[in-house]
Amino acid sequence: MTDSRDASISIVGSGLIGRSWATVFSSAGYTVRLYDVVQQQVDSAIQDIRHQLNELEKNGMLRGTSKPEEQMALISGCSDLAKAIEGSIHIQECVPENLELKRKIFQELDGLMNDDVILSSSTSCLLPSKLFSGLKHVKQCIVSHPVNPTYYVPLVELVPHPETQPSVVEKTYALMKRVGQVPVKLIREIDGFALNRIQYAIIGEAWRLVTEGIISPEDVDLVMTAGLGMRYAFMGPFETIHLNAEGTKNYCERYAVGMKRVLSSFGPPPEFRDDEIQNIHQALSRRIPADPEHLNARRHDRDVYLAALAKLKKKM
Ligand code: NAI
Repeated sequence: MTDSRDASISIVGSGLIGRSWATVFSSAGYTVRLYDVVQQQVDSAIQDIRHQLNELEKNGMLRGTSKPEEQMALISGCSDLAKAIEGSIHIQECVPENLELKRKIFQELDGLMNDDVILSSSTSCLLPSKLFSGLKHVKQCIVSHPVNPTYYVPLVELVPHPETQPSVVEKTYALMKRVGQVPVKLIREIDGFALNRIQYAIIGEAWRLVTEGIISPEDVDLVMTAGLGMRYAFMGPFETIHLNAEGTKNYCERYAVGMKRVLSSFGPPPEFRDDEIQNIHQALSRRIPADPEHLNARRHDRDVYLAALAKLKKKM
């Protein structure tokens, strides 16, 4: 398998995440073939990617050294799956999060792919053992779970099937690094992977603190944005504890007993009862009304802040 930059990558499914992958791969000089079951979806994806690349250039955030038009010259649409994957080194599947649908696509790809290409799924939470089991090319399959917006939040969780060849993990890891993403390897699959398990732990405890009347939803969000989140963009929980004492060992000598006491008071996961959902929804809607106009405006703010943060991190 060649790893040269003029190699081509196939993207199956040209929605939000398929488009993001197309910008990421083309910015690193890869030829990208974008396939979708709906031709109109491919056409609008190409238009949208052009718009996104122009915006990124305007904001000084374009990755790589090529201009938007040079990157666009690398991206083409395709409505024939066999042609879309012909000669590719990597297929990135981005169809909706539905096990039956993904399995159907993988069966189809299994019959078309060669013995070298890597078949990688963008799934947020479906386990590789559910997705890939029974495929002839199972050893070439892996999950590469991105984060939205992929261009500014570079993490990719790599999750192998129990039969995935170690070289497939290594090649996918190298590819992700080459295109400017930040891959992490899960040694084996687990429900929620790493990012969502940690995210759900935070949501679960935030939910409990609010529903038990300890703190308001607004103040929980401040605990994150003005407290924990300030450093989490630069260092994770392990580096944090290492620095918060004279190393990890010393931190545990000082704080392990307290951590265990607090952790053992957490209790079972929340039920997410209707009345609780209603109250938290109302509190949030006072700040951000839950209609497309306000939600989209806030999403736009989020992307602007993330772009600024990404710029800062690049300089560091
Ligand atoms: P989307 O709904 O925006 O796009 C899905 C695309 O797949 C559509 O263009 C649709 O026409 C196409 N499609 C449907 N059936 C197809 C088929 N049989 N063959 C080819 N294309 C087909 O979905 P989105 O948000 O892009 O999600 C894609 C995957 O990425 C999902 O597995 C999702 O869990 C994952 N993901 C999504 C994130 C997000 O924030 N939206 C973040 C990380 C991962």
